[in-house]
Amino acid sequence: MHAGEAPPGPLLLNCSSAYQGYVHVPLESALRAALDSRNGLLTELHAQGTDCYRLFHGSQEGAAGLTIDRYGPQLLVQSFHQTLDHDALLDLHATIEQVLGLELLLVYNDRSQGNSRIDRRDPAYQASEAALADLIGHEWGLNYRVRGRHAGQDPLLFLDLRNARGWVKQNSAGKRVLNLFAYTCGVGLSAAAGGAREVCNLDFADGNLAVGRENAALNPELPSMEFIQSDYFPAIRQLAGLPVSQRRGHKLPPYPRLEPRQFDLVFLDPPAWAKSAFGTVDLLRDYQSLLKPALLSTAEDGVLVCCNNLAKVSLDDWRTQVLRCAEKNGRPVREWQVLAPAADFPSMDNQPPLKTLILHL
Ligand SMILES: C[S@@+](CC[C@H](N)C(=O)[O-])C[C@H]1O[C@@H](n2cnc3c(N)ncnc32)[C@H](O)[C@@H]1O
Repeated sequence: MHAGEAPPGPLLLNCSSAYQGYVHVPLESALRAALDSRNGLLTELHAQGTDCYRLFHGSQEGAAGLTIDRYGPQLLVQSFHQTLDHDALLDLHATIEQVLGLELLLVYNDRSQGNSRIDRRDPAYQASEAALADLIGHEWGLNYRVRGRHAGQDPLLFLDLRNARGWVKQNSAGKRVLNLFAYTCGVGLSAAAGGAREVCNLDFADGNLAVGRENAALNPELPSMEFIQSDYFPAIRQLAGLPVSQRRGHKLPPYPRLEPRQFDLVFLDPPAWAKSAFGTVDLLRDYQSLLKPALLSTAEDGVLVCCNNLAKVSLDDWRTQVLRCAEKNGRPVREWQVLAPAADFPSMDNQPPLKTLILHL
């Protein structure tokens, strides 16, 4: 447990003394301060067609393990360390509705138990049917599927990537775009909205790509996108023209066959860690094996945007590794830029967990 964090157990967050037994900023005032600090940002976001954003980023704003997000008509509260007291939940909902001047449908997902799976048992926390319905949120003028609870554990749109999707929308005109680890295809959708010539979304999870297809259907004015359901390793190696190698003694499961192909803009946003029959995604120990084939699938004069969301990896160390890997693989970086999440993801030490590098090759 980190210093200043509360011990686990129920009833630990309530509005009068956020953490029992700890001297701490009360949740109510921490929340009001967070809402105050977002005044200008929210006006800006609403003007640009965005109603999905973080209202309270607990780890940096006074209640570690608590996040409060608006997803269009829905208010999504998530706790990761301990269960939020029922009255505290209702109080924060009321405060937010009053400050924002709108009604929001409340969904509370307690992810503090059992390996961060959502606790759906306690009826006190069951959301209304309307709140759990299929809803629509907006970002950069695009429509996105919002679903408070679904088969997976994370919300269908990662909000800290908003600035990166905005960048993609601004920089995709006429480009062939490859969206790797596409999840619900927000990056692909942004590229299509930005006038990309081709958009290809790649992910191994059919359910995530299905939401990507829903997102496409929610924006019928956009050109159609391609969806490839495949493990990253065989797919990217084939696109890069590299052999798909088998580990000694292990027969590979079947995988879709792809022709070598290059893209003008490649977006690489992998999970922190994932193991499959084809390889291991490990952002701490081995970013290179993800990066190398992605570099080789990026066209001459193309751009590779890559992310690392692991808090314990520093931007400086990771950037050094990335630039060295590009050099070593004959794709030296001509120019690079860092893209930070927006101010709804404040970071006291200026080291946000999600790091994004734009590499001009
Ligand atoms: C952190 S999310 C990526 C977020 C996404 N880039 C976005 O824009 O929201 C991780 C995604 O990687 C996919 N994934 C994990 N391991 C994979 C693998 N080996 N091959 C293909 N997809 C994988 C998961 O299905 C999930 O959709």
